[in-house]
Amino acid sequence: MKKLLITGGARLSGTVRIHGAKNSVLPVLAACCLCTSPCVLHNCPDIEDVRTALAILESLGCKARREGSTLCIDASGLSKFRVEKRLAGKMRSSILFLGALLARCGKAELALPGGCPLGERPIDLHVKSLSKLGARFSFEKGILQAAWRERSDGDVFLPRPSVGATENLLLACALMNGTVTLHGAAREPEITDLIGFLRAAGADIRGAGSGDITIRGVKKLHGATYTILPDRIETATYLCMAAGCGGDVALRRCDGRLLAPVIGCLREAGCEIRSVGSEIALKSSGKLTAVSPVTTAPYPGFPTDAQALLMAAVLRAKGESVFQETVFERRFLHVPELQKLGADIVLSGKTARVRGVAHLHGAMLRAEDLRGAAALITAGLLAEGESEVLGLSHLARGYENLEQNLKNLGAAIKSVDIPAPFVYNT
Ligand code: UD1
Repeated sequence: MKKLLITGGARLSGTVRIHGAKNSVLPVLAACCLCTSPCVLHNCPDIEDVRTALAILESLGCKARREGSTLCIDASGLSKFRVEKRLAGKMRSSILFLGALLARCGKAELALPGGCPLGERPIDLHVKSLSKLGARFSFEKGILQAAWRERSDGDVFLPRPSVGATENLLLACALMNGTVTLHGAAREPEITDLIGFLRAAGADIRGAGSGDITIRGVKKLHGATYTILPDRIETATYLCMAAGCGGDVALRRCDGRLLAPVIGCLREAGCEIRSVGSEIALKSSGKLTAVSPVTTAPYPGFPTDAQALLMAAVLRAKGESVFQETVFERRFLHVPELQKLGADIVLSGKTARVRGVAHLHGAMLRAEDLRGAAALITAGLLAEGESEVLGLSHLARGYENLEQNLKNLGAAIKSVDIPAPFVYNT
């Protein structure tokens, strides 16, 4: 078990190569279950959630092999339709095997998914919308069982644009007789990426990037070669870190168009940002001003996954920045930890008011979720003196090479082993 030691105060300068998007590669890996010949996926991050998805594929009878950032998946031998508890409980995206296995096997059995503890994370929208299309569900001894009874097509309405429910519907309906139109679908770029992969494998899906998606079922999907889009939240992470610390960084192999709200806030805070093609360059003096109120919202709004990151960046900014979280009910788990560093944050329901302070001091911090972990590291980099960050298992689920990348940018950061008697809930 490890913790990170950070000595704050360094400016960040240099180049970072952004990896493929965690939230794209996970649904695409589930989609590989639908393909009866091998798939080759480029630009796949080597992170814990991807390792869990590969373990699930192997447990179902698929073959999976990594060569650098390329994954080769052969689902021709898929023979099981049950995702075991020890794997399903490790991440939220295990729920996507529900749609994938329903499509491929006509039935699925899954233990309930894990993931970040961001409050209630029900799967009612997944279950209700698949039920509308003829799936029948039962829940026994912690296992959700699903099977098609009378398959029907037609229109499905999502009352809120759930990313996971949209992905499950795309997966479940790609192989069928008939046409399903999904209204109120989520419009995240990672959904467009999943549709891009499914189309490359022979699916007939229209309306990617809009709230209305039409899926004309096909009989079979073949293998496909596909490149996963860049991770916009990893991109936001380095931008917020460099903005808060001050510095001059260039991010390669990313896409600034997917991050307009975050880039807009960082510019407003005083950063100079140039986004051209697949590169974003940011210059910051580290002396930021507060940003206009930020309200998280489904894409193309301000991403909930970047809320903690931007908050950490503006802890020393002049003035008051207000953050309203509308997507998840418990997405301020980082706030009490940031307060340990001397941050002036007042939390009231869904709103956090951050008044910039002149100085932050080092403290011992414990991460409770993935993006919160990156926010605590950002704050540690801003603080004077030494900070410790525990709870790194969350970080490993979503970031490849973060520590080394920060070292390369000039940060004083290192991971050290936690002595065995102190390894408790880290
Ligand atoms: C995905 C992302 C996560 C991101 C989130 C919102 C992945 C692996 N994770 O999570 O990083 O923060 O989108 O952009 O892609 N909800 C229901 N019932 C449901 C499903 C969702 O009430 O059946 C609610 C959730 O509790 C939440 C909101 O809808 O409040 C959005 O959830 P959703 O879009 O489904 O997020 P995830 O797919 O879990």
